[in-house]
Amino acid sequence: MARPSPHLLLVDDEGALRSVTAERLKERGFEVVEADTGERALELLEQFAFDILVTDLRLPGVDGREVVKTAVGRYPAIVAIVITGYGTVKDAVDAIKQGASDFVAKPFQFDELTHVLQKALEQRRLASENAYLRSQLEERYQFGGILGRSQPMRALFQLLETVARSSSTILITGETGTGKEVVARAIHLNSDRRAQRFVALNCSAIPETLLEAELFGHVRGAFTGAVGSREGRFEQAHKGTLFLDEVGTMSVALQMKLLRVLQERNFERVGDNQSIKVDVRVIAATNSALSRMVAEGTFREDLYYRLNVIPIELPPLRDRRDDIPVLAKHFLEKFAPGVDVQVSQTAMRALMAYAWPGNVRQLENAIERAVALGAGRRQIDSSDLPPELQPSVSAAPSAFVDLPEEGIDLPGYLAAVERDLVRRALERTGGNRNRAADLLRLKRTTLVEKLKRIG
Ligand SMILES: Nc1ncnc2c1ncn2[C@@H]1O[C@H](COP(=O)(O)OP(=O)(O)OP(=O)(O)O)[C@@H](O)[C@H]1O
Ligand SMILES: [Mg+2]
Repeated sequence: MARPSPHLLLVDDEGALRSVTAERLKERGFEVVEADTGERALELLEQFAFDILVTDLRLPGVDGREVVKTAVGRYPAIVAIVITGYGTVKDAVDAIKQGASDFVAKPFQFDELTHVLQKALEQRRLASENAYLRSQLEERYQFGGILGRSQPMRALFQLLETVARSSSTILITGETGTGKEVVARAIHLNSDRRAQRFVALNCSAIPETLLEAELFGHVRGAFTGAVGSREGRFEQAHKGTLFLDEVGTMSVALQMKLLRVLQERNFERVGDNQSIKVDVRVIAATNSALSRMVAEGTFREDLYYRLNVIPIELPPLRDRRDDIPVLAKHFLEKFAPGVDVQVSQTAMRALMAYAWPGNVRQLENAIERAVALGAGRRQIDSSDLPPELQPSVSAAPSAFVDLPEEGIDLPGYLAAVERDLVRRALERTGGNRNRAADLLRLKRTTLVEKLKRIG
C-alpha cells in the first residue's frame, strides 16, 4: 500500500512566498494547508493532527513560537520547522526549546527546506521508537489516575485538589462515560478519609423497593425476606465516602429520606426506630440534568441544593479533544502492557475528529478493540478502529445507486460523478484550485489534469 502523503501546515504572513513554497511542497508529495496568521494556524491545529508544521517565526499577533508550542504540546510527534529572519539565531534557539526540530533562515533555497524536512522526519521516526519520552509526557497530566491535559481538565484538577480536603457534599454531572466515578474515587483517595471506605451505590441498579434498605440497612423481619438484620451503605461508609451514582433516578419518597440524613446526619434502619449517627461524605453523580428535573417537579429542590454544594461538571470528550492523545496512549498501555504501540497519524486524526457520544468509555473500548485486531503490530491504523470511526464512504456512489435492471454504463457513470464533484468543489471555493484540490483530497496537479480531461 502506498504511504499516505504527509500533511503539512504552512504558516507565513507573506502571501507570495507562502503560495510558491506551498506549490512546490505539493509537487514533492506533501498535502499542504496554508495559514496566513498564527491565530488561523491555532484554529487549524485544533481541527487536524498535522504531521508537519512549517512556520515563520515573526507573525503579527500570535507568533511562530506560540504556534510551535501549542502544536508540540498537542501532538508530541509533530515535526515543527521554523523559518527565521536573517541573523536571528537566538530566536531559532528559542523555538527549538519550545519543541521545534530545526530551522531555516530567510532567504532560503527551496532545497534547504526540503533537506531540513527530510532530516527532521527521519529523526522523528527514530524518536518514536523511544517510548521513554512519551511516558514522561503523560506524567504531567493527571490527578489521582484521572488523565487530561485540556484546559478544562487542568482547571478540574485544581478544583479537585481543593475540594478533596473538605468534607462538603459534591454533585458530579456529566454525560455517560465522562469519568464521574473516576473523579469520585480520586476525591476520596486525596481526602483525609482515604484510610476509610469508599462505598459506591448505583441507585438505578437496585429496585426501588430494596433501595431504602440498601441505603439505611434493615432489621430482622422489616420486610418479607429480611431474615437477619443488616447494615446499610451509610453505615458501611462511616468516616469514609459514600458515592451515590445516578441519584436522579431515586423516587421522590426516598429523596425525602436522603435529604433528612444529609441535614441531620442520622437515620434509622428499615423496621427499626433506633437512630444511628454517621459521619459520611456524600458524593452524588448524575447524567441527567437535575436542575431540569427540579423545574419539572421530579426532583426535590431542597435535596438538589443539599447535594449541589460543590458542583463538578465533566465536559464531554468532544469539548476537550486535547485529552484524546493522552487517553489513547494510556489505554494502549493498559491493553498492550509493556509493548510500545503507536497510533498512526491517520488513525489519530480519526480519533480526534469523532464526536464520542460514549465519551472516554467509548474511546477505551475502541482502543481495546484496535489492540485486539492489531494482534501484536506496533502501529494502530485507522482500519483497526470501529466502523463508526472509519472515513466516511458517503461520497461513494455505490452506497446510493441501485443497479438498474437494464445494467449501467459504469465508466460513463463514474465520469459523471467525478465531473459533478469537481464542479461543486470549484464552486464552493470560488474557483480556487488549491482549495478545491484539498476538498477532494487530490494533489493540485491531479486536479488540473482532470480539469483538462473533463474540459
Ligand atoms: N480522565 C480519565 N482518565 C482515565 N480514564 C478515564 C478518564 N475518564 C474516564 N476514564 C475511564 O473511562 C471509563 C468510564 O469512566 P466512568 O465509569 O467514571 O464514567 P461515568 O461518567 O461514571 O459513566 P456513566 O455515566 O456511564 O456511569 C472508565 O473505565 C474510566 O476508568
Ligand atoms: Mg458511572
